[in-house]
Amino acid sequence: MRNLNQDTITQAVLARFAGTPDARVKELMTSLVQHLHAFAREVTLTEAEWLAGIHFLTATGQKCDDKRQEFILLSDTLGLSMLTVAMNNDKPQGCTEATVFGPFHVEGAPHFDNGADVANGAVGEPCIVRGRVLGLGGEAVAGAEIEVWQADAEGNYDVQYADLGKFQARGVLNSGVDGSFTFRTIVAEPYPIPVDGPVGDMLRATRCHPWRPAHLHFMIKAPGYETLVTHVFRNGDPYLDSDAVFGVRQSLVADWVKQPDGVYSLDFDFVLNPAS
Ligand code: BEZ
Ligand code: FE
Repeated sequence: MRNLNQDTITQAVLARFAGTPDARVKELMTSLVQHLHAFAREVTLTEAEWLAGIHFLTATGQKCDDKRQEFILLSDTLGLSMLTVAMNNDKPQGCTEATVFGPFHVEGAPHFDNGADVANGAVGEPCIVRGRVLGLGGEAVAGAEIEVWQADAEGNYDVQYADLGKFQARGVLNSGVDGSFTFRTIVAEPYPIPVDGPVGDMLRATRCHPWRPAHLHFMIKAPGYETLVTHVFRNGDPYLDSDAVFGVRQSLVADWVKQPDGVYSLDFDFVLNPAS
């Protein structure tokens, strides 16, 4: 195989991968090569531009550590995360919709009893969150594991503070026998995704803003049901229609209501899809 040119190289690369034993890996590699080559042809990619692309991807990897995942951020801001979520979470009508996981979930969040304050000192206005975990037929899902995480009023997750040394505004609870749960926390506020890395450079170059509308993250697990990864978004937020990561779904928008005592309340029920 010599003297390959721009008309013959794609087929040569595909032929090289033709012996891939795993059918799915073969399908993924074949399609990836075809699309990458088509992209290069379509834009008449120069060598300098591809080198800049390689530098960008290198910087994206170098920005990653155990607390920062720049590749997730890149996938999110390109809409690839939300496309993957949408394609893989086509649930029956009535189920709570899924949205992006984001890069700020961490393993090992503390467990709380119902009624506890998961803020653990995070700055923000006080808020009480109440809801139920239900099945599609309206049945209570008892003992569901409900993990919640959110940014503080400064727009930061606990893991974004260098020396915090404790979890804040995140925790795990279990639903009661009637599927209900309740916890105290702080009011969700809009915040910008981190822009001090290559993804920030990309957003500035493309004149895209980095803001996410105010939201609470939830991951809910229960035996016999699909795991639900979602957010609840705050009604009235100015960024609901321009989320930097394309994650807003109207069914996930809810009201945070200020009560006479100054404490906000959010009521939201989650409906899980039965596992197939
Ligand atoms: C988040 O909501 O935590 C998030 C999601 C995607 C990118 C950055 C942050
Ligand atoms: Fe978030």
